[in-house]
Amino acid sequence: MVPGDRCPGVSVRRTVNLDMGRKTMAVNFKSLGLVNTKEMFKNAMQKGYGIPGYNFNNMEQLQAIIMACVECRSPVILQISKGARQYTNQTLLRYMVSGAVEIAKETGGNIPIALNLDHGDSFELCKSCIDYGFSNVMIDGSSLPYEKNIETTSEVVEYAHRCDVTVEGELGVLAGIEEHVVSEKSHYTDPGQVEDFVKKTSVDSLAISIGTSHGVYKFKVKPGESIPPLRFDILEECEKKLPGFPIVLHGASSVLQEYVNIINKYGGKLEQTAGVSEDQIKRAVKSAVCKVNIDSDGRLVMTAMIRKYLAENPKEFDPRKYLGPAREELKKMYVEKCQILGSAGQA
Ligand code: G3H
Ligand code: 13P
Ligand code: ZN
Repeated sequence: MVPGDRCPGVSVRRTVNLDMGRKTMAVNFKSLGLVNTKEMFKNAMQKGYGIPGYNFNNMEQLQAIIMACVECRSPVILQISKGARQYTNQTLLRYMVSGAVEIAKETGGNIPIALNLDHGDSFELCKSCIDYGFSNVMIDGSSLPYEKNIETTSEVVEYAHRCDVTVEGELGVLAGIEEHVVSEKSHYTDPGQVEDFVKKTSVDSLAISIGTSHGVYKFKVKPGESIPPLRFDILEECEKKLPGFPIVLHGASSVLQEYVNIINKYGGKLEQTAGVSEDQIKRAVKSAVCKVNIDSDGRLVMTAMIRKYLAENPKEFDPRKYLGPAREELKKMYVEKCQILGSAGQA
């Protein structure tokens, strides 16, 4: 046969991607063993600690998060961004999360687990996640004009609350990349707007901007220079306007230097950078901050350990050999984070 010819009667297969596929049956989060954030935030608020919102994209990250939170008995919010959902596939994701709930039980830890859509950018996406079993959705209308943010957020809340799903809104734009929002400067939250926003939308929690940003390049500091403190004055003002209301802190990775150094030692080229210090996180969770979002630190740990393993074992090509140690190190880091947040021992 001439190359390129097709066998008679055999049709060429079309390309199949993970982001294709028909809608599977709608499920409520309760049937997956998940919880919404109501009780979690009530307890966190009363006792003055923060629930971790850990992002994941693959099985090893999910395993590390669950094993860490079971081990240190921490409630946890698993987070999936729009991009992560496309990467994992929505149907597979549902079963992965339901499997994670099961292994938490099997390993002796009946810890509260929520599944959150991180930075949802439309009603349609939020609805789809709710229908696929998410127990909390974030609708990020922070880049929209104020009235439009209220309108979009209210629409999501109206649908979500019918399914007992809780909703996180956002006011104020973080610097860095918020997936669909690219902002060079941080636009701090205006405390004058928070009460009106919460009243008009009925959101269950609110993300505010007090100087953190997403990613690993949070603060441009030269060696020896100190990191600017977060705007606790804005947080306090928001708290006064919304007593007892759960506040969410995004962009809370510390940009763990140890792992930045390993990455650079083994061929990486990350620039000098700094994140949110442990002290600032501890201070934030003593206030109305009930949820603390951490993604970048997990990415750094995973990349550092994989780079190190492959550099030291150039003949190795079994993914389990380099993903396994990365997963172990991730678990260790998540346990440490839960201790910093004060969520360890609270489940
Ligand atoms: O806030 C953004 C999160 O770190 C998610 O990032 O959109 O690259 O998944 P991603
Ligand atoms: P980091 O990039 O600081 O980990 O923030 C993650 C985040 O806010 C996810 O919504
Ligand atoms: Zn975020």
